[in-house]
Parts: sequence; C-alpha cells; structure tokens
Amino acid sequence: MIIDSEDQAETDLDRILSIQPQVQDDLNNLRPKNLDEFVGQAKLKDNLRVFIEAARIRKESLDHVLLSGPPGLGKTTLSHIIAHEMGVNLRVTSGPAIEKAGDLAALLTHLEAFDVLFIDEIHRLPRAVEEILYPALEDFKLDLTIGEGPSARSLRIDIPPFTLVGATTRSGLLSSPLRSRFGIPLHLEFYTDEELATIVTRSARILEIEIEEDAAHEIAKRSRKTPRIANRLLKRVRDFAQTAGQKKIVRDGASHALTQLEVDEMGCDPMDRKLLSLIIDQFQGGPVGIETLSASLQEERDTLEDIYEPYLMQVGFLARTPRGRIATERAYHFIGRAWPGSISSSRSLFDQ
Ligand SMILES: Nc1ncnc2c1ncn2[C@@H]1O[C@H](COP(=O)(O)OP(=O)(O)OP(=O)(O)O)[C@@H](O)[C@H]1O
Ligand SMILES: [Mg+2]
Repeated sequence: MIIDSEDQAETDLDRILSIQPQVQDDLNNLRPKNLDEFVGQAKLKDNLRVFIEAARIRKESLDHVLLSGPPGLGKTTLSHIIAHEMGVNLRVTSGPAIEKAGDLAALLTHLEAFDVLFIDEIHRLPRAVEEILYPALEDFKLDLTIGEGPSARSLRIDIPPFTLVGATTRSGLLSSPLRSRFGIPLHLEFYTDEELATIVTRSARILEIEIEEDAAHEIAKRSRKTPRIANRLLKRVRDFAQTAGQKKIVRDGASHALTQLEVDEMGCDPMDRKLLSLIIDQFQGGPVGIETLSASLQEERDTLEDIYEPYLMQVGFLARTPRGRIATERAYHFIGRAWPGSISSSRSLFDQ
C-alpha cells in the first residue's frame, strides 16, 4: 500500500471512523455499559470475562474477537463493553468504510497500545484490505510501500498491540483465513422470553416509566427473541400508555398497543405473514428460491435473509433446503391453512 503523507492519513481517518455522538441518545442510554448489565448470553459472558481478566493480568491486548449473530442481539453493545472492561479506547468503523489498504494503515497507525478497533459488517471488508490485515493481526506489523514507481521501497513497520473486534450477521461470508485469525469467536444466540422481560424492565426503569411484570412479559413474548425489538416495542407501548394518560404500563394496555402495531402473539408482523402465505398459497409450501420470494414480496434479498428468515426458522415456521425455502406444518397452522399432509411432510423432512 502507498502512504503519501501524514496529512493524507489524517483525512482518511475522519472519513473512515464513525463519529461518536457527544450526547448520548436514548438508544445509547439503554445500551448496557458493562458485562454485569448485559442480560443473557451466559456462557459467552462467562468466557469473555475470563479472557478479559487474563489479558489484564498479563498486561497484554485481548486476543481478537469475532461477534456473529442476527441483527439486534448485542454485537455492537458487546464491542463497547469489551473496550470498557479492558479500560481502553474504542475506535469504530465498518467493512465498507475501509475502501483501500491505505485506509486501514491510517487506522492502525493511529491506534494507542491495547485499543479496541471495532469493524462492523466485517464480511464487507474488501479483499485487498483483508490481506493487509493478516500480518497486523498476527504480528502487529504493517507492510507499507513508500513512494511510487522505480523509487518505491517496501517497509515493515510495527503497530501498537491492539484488539480487533469484528461483527457480522453473516459469518459464512467471511474468508477462512480471516476467520481463523480471531482467537475468540463468539456467536450470539436468540434470547429467551425471560431474558427479554428482564431487558424490558431494565429499559423501562431507564426510560422512567412504570411497567407491570405481566406487561413486560407480553412485550418480551412478541419481540422476536431480540433485545433491539424489545426496546423498540417498549417505547411504542409507552407512547400508547402516556397518550392514554396511564402512569403505568399494564398487560392489557401493552397487548392492545402491540395489536395496534400489527405485532401478533408470535412477534410476527405483516411481512412475516405475507412471506409464509406466499410460500403456502403460491408455491404449494415450497421449496421456493430466495430470489423468487424477494421479487414477489418486493423486498431486498438481504433483508429477507438477515431480518425475517432467522426468526422464522428459529420458531420453526420456515426451513431452508438446498432447493429453496419450505413452509413447515407449524406455519400452515399459524397462517390458518389446512396442512396438506404426509407428501409434503416427508418431502420437507427429506430435504432437511
Ligand atoms: N444483552 C443485552 N442486554 C440488554 N440490552 C441489550 C442486550 N443486547 C442488546 N441490547 C439492546 O439492544 C440494542 C441493539 O443491540 P446492538 O446494537 O448491540 O445489536 P447488534 O447485534 O450490533 O445489531 P446489528 O447487527 O443490527 O448491528 C442495544 O442498543 C441495547 O440497548
Ligand atoms: Mg451493530
């Protein structure tokens, strides 16, 4: 890679790094600040605590961490927590923001020792950048080319020891050389209703609205096992309660508001139901390709794959097969269609 001047590196840095808001907004207030406040993911948390403690005892940088899992489960939150628990700075950027090798060099040479560099959507890192990253991750070295043409010379420079925290909703898209350089791969799982109710209760306290335990459970149950959705639904339910002059969120109120928001008992919204009925009514239950679904629903393929499918699979409404998506028997009952019976049933079992 070519670094022209220090000035160039400074300009790049402003473009590549996400601006950290000076004033914390609502969302950031709801974001747990340390591991104790982070609800659920017990095993992940226990392990992470040990690795952080060990790195601190050895006075070393924490090994590189890969956070994977569906949107809204806490990857960004954990990257902040890791930096906080290590007592170091956090630098935030994303795969698509690092366009060229020089961008990465600018980032890495401006880190302080033990800093956490958070790269969101790391599966979207350009390949050329990825290759520069390998020696940086392994040996804290950067291979630079100074100047151009015949006078160009290569230089290997030391960079401060740092921790890369990468986040991705698609760990399958990561190249295996990159994946293998993360010493701490962590996969976030969907949350239980109990954990989500705890999150809702905690958020209500921060938002300064009283909530009954039953109401917190009602919101939790309809939150697609996802904290971000739980917090969003809580805020909307709060809107309904406050405009109705209620000081406290009660179960009936929560239930009424969620129905009004078209979030059903299972946490499904109109798009989930449209997707399932499309497979059942137009494609005899499937299999049907994701591109066909995307065209019929006029919804981006990535949105279907990242936001809708993981939850529908988690609750057993949808199955992925090599030939496409299949609606399960549960989905037929949920949508209110007669289950066609054993032929499809044996086919879906076979395909799985
Ligand atoms: N374990 C948790 N305990 C309490 N709140 C949580 C937890 N995980 C996430 N949240 C809340 O959910 C919100 C969304 O989490 P976060 O932004 O970390 O998700 P993400 O995995 O980075 O999503 P994306 O893939 O879309 O970037 C946070 O602002 C936080 O308030
Ligand atoms: Mg995130």
